[in-house]
Amino acid sequence: MTATDLLASALGDLEALERDGLAALRDSRDAESVEAARIEYLGQKQGRLKAAQERLKALDPAGKRVYGQRFNATKGALEAAWTEAKARAERPAAAGAAADALDVTLPGRKTRLGHRHPLTQTADELIDLFGRFGFEAARGPEVEDVFHNFEALNIPPSHPARDTLENFYLSDALMLRSQTSPIQIRVMEARRPPVRVIAIGRVYRPDTVDATHSFMFHQIEGLMVDVGVTMADLKTVLRLFAESYLGTDVKIRFRPSFFPFTEPSVEVDMLWHGGERWVEMGGAGMVDPNVLRAVGYDPEEVTGFAFGLGIERLCMRRHAIDDIRLLYQNDTRFLSQF
Ligand code: DAH
Repeated sequence: MTATDLLASALGDLEALERDGLAALRDSRDAESVEAARIEYLGQKQGRLKAAQERLKALDPAGKRVYGQRFNATKGALEAAWTEAKARAERPAAAGAAADALDVTLPGRKTRLGHRHPLTQTADELIDLFGRFGFEAARGPEVEDVFHNFEALNIPPSHPARDTLENFYLSDALMLRSQTSPIQIRVMEARRPPVRVIAIGRVYRPDTVDATHSFMFHQIEGLMVDVGVTMADLKTVLRLFAESYLGTDVKIRFRPSFFPFTEPSVEVDMLWHGGERWVEMGGAGMVDPNVLRAVGYDPEEVTGFAFGLGIERLCMRRHAIDDIRLLYQNDTRFLSQF
């Protein structure tokens, strides 16, 4: 071996010795293992450092100078590590563990809080708003029977809305509800007037998905039945709602329309921030006498109004969201903005 090779090999071994020794001392947790590491690396008789020192003899003068310096550095590092390990092993166990577990001088770690989905926020806000108008929240099943989804709502078997291509039928008698209106029927079946409820929930229609359509979306249904309820009450409630939810500068208008379960029926539009364009918010009307009769109410005695609005649309208008699909993708870059 040339003198250069000899030096290189000795330096390589010294480096490995230092790495191993520091690791052994760092990892020893009690007095015995610290002492064992000391004997293995720093021991006067058989210690590995002692053996490394012996290799000095075989080097030429230039090699001795280089190796000697590295050797002293390694020795210093190992001795310092041993002093530290010994002190650590001597500390009472509990204090040692606690000191390892928590450094109170470090800056705190920020916990990131999640929040409710924008659609849930909208739904909660609507429940709260209508609650203040005296409407109480009701629910109904998403797997609905054809009787409640259509029949009791005065939608006859021949009606195009019942087409198999317009609905998700599960059997002849069961379907995923296509609207929240069947909840009106369930509420009226269960109680006597006066009734003042809203219901929020998912509805399903086999629409092709695009920026404004989805096969599943949410509606809010409202129903008020009492002695002497008129169209003026409907208009007032919807106007107050629009002003509360979207702002006092929002106007609403009614357009004549047709729904089998209301007579007369209207579609409700909202004009937003003094804009040019009326946006359709949903349908409404006076509950059809046939519907009242179907649940055992007397249309000569009580009257009522009902409405159904799309929640996505309200949420999208409120937050200027232009694609309904964003609401269902659960992309936190989108959701964290609300
Ligand atoms: N259910 C209707 C739909 O999904 C919306 C609707 C219209 C609900 C008129 C009503 C109503 O309660 O009175 O298109």
